[in-house]
Amino acid sequence: MSITLNSPLDMHLHLRDEAMLKTVAPLSSETFSGAIIMPNLVPPVTTKEQLIGYKERIGSAIGDDVFTPYMTLFFKPTYTKEFLESIKDELTAIKLYPAGITTNSEGGVSGFDVEELRPTLEAMSELEIPLCIHGETNGFVMDREAEFVSIYEKLAAAFPKLTIIMEHITTKASVEALDRFENLHATITLHHLLITLDDVAGGMLQPHLFCKPIAKRPEDREALRKVALEAHPKVMFGSDSAPHPQHAKEACGCAAGVFTSPIALQVLAELFEEHSTIENLQAFVSDNAKNIYKNITIPEKTITLEKKSFVVPEKYGNVVPMYAGETLAYSIV
Ligand code: NCD
Ligand code: ZN
Ligand code: ZN
Repeated sequence: MSITLNSPLDMHLHLRDEAMLKTVAPLSSETFSGAIIMPNLVPPVTTKEQLIGYKERIGSAIGDDVFTPYMTLFFKPTYTKEFLESIKDELTAIKLYPAGITTNSEGGVSGFDVEELRPTLEAMSELEIPLCIHGETNGFVMDREAEFVSIYEKLAAAFPKLTIIMEHITTKASVEALDRFENLHATITLHHLLITLDDVAGGMLQPHLFCKPIAKRPEDREALRKVALEAHPKVMFGSDSAPHPQHAKEACGCAAGVFTSPIALQVLAELFEEHSTIENLQAFVSDNAKNIYKNITIPEKTITLEKKSFVVPEKYGNVVPMYAGETLAYSIV
């Protein structure tokens, strides 16, 4: 049993910088054709110089691999149309973070006043630059994403031509919002298709499964699985692979993020096969993204997965991957 994928894409990826970048970038570039690169560095990517410099450092870290880093800027409501025009050719999307909601998001947006955001969002809409959003309020942790749905809807209605991507959705409420607005789309991670809060905190605390948004209830996971496994045209794979050094995860004050890049395609193949939907995996990991992001060109790459066991390494550098030490059913040929 084997499956071949054409140009798999990871539409939400953290590559970090410096030593960590060198460790993790090849683990994406050897299997994926391209990825949306998150801008939450310290400091965040907010200028053309930073964006180009970061893209070059990614280029050095991946060596000769065929892989396109789709670059993003960290959203600021002060970006002007002139600025966006000047950077448009280097840029695939802009990522909006509510202030302080997740790793390195301190300089994000507080309050979601449409009028305050209008100049930048209107310019993005005119220039056809997609907006990616980490959609959580600062309410009760289990309700943050569901509470944010009304903000997604407010933005989708106010900017009907703006492509909005609800990043790493984790709830039934977000899945249901997809069909209400033509311009709402979503990424879904590997881990949110697999785990619920029970896996994180139901037994002994599992720091390597702790992430934002936190994994939710079984019925939420069911709703995510349904649209992912049928490759609903408005959803696409975005791993949100978010490496942190082992000491920052296995700590009092555990950093949020699950590291999945090196196992993502293997585990997706197993999940889709188990549900007899393997024929939909190509759309979920590539074709849907191409239809949602109309501004990307995708390098050709063919990846074959075969049913042959793969023992997940305990660590890559100083990062512990999801399923460390466990045996997966599929491996990459
Ligand atoms: C991400 C990170 O570590 O950068 N963490 C996470 O838990 N998902 C940030 C993010 O995507 O929210
Ligand atoms: Zn996020
Ligand atoms: Zn992320």
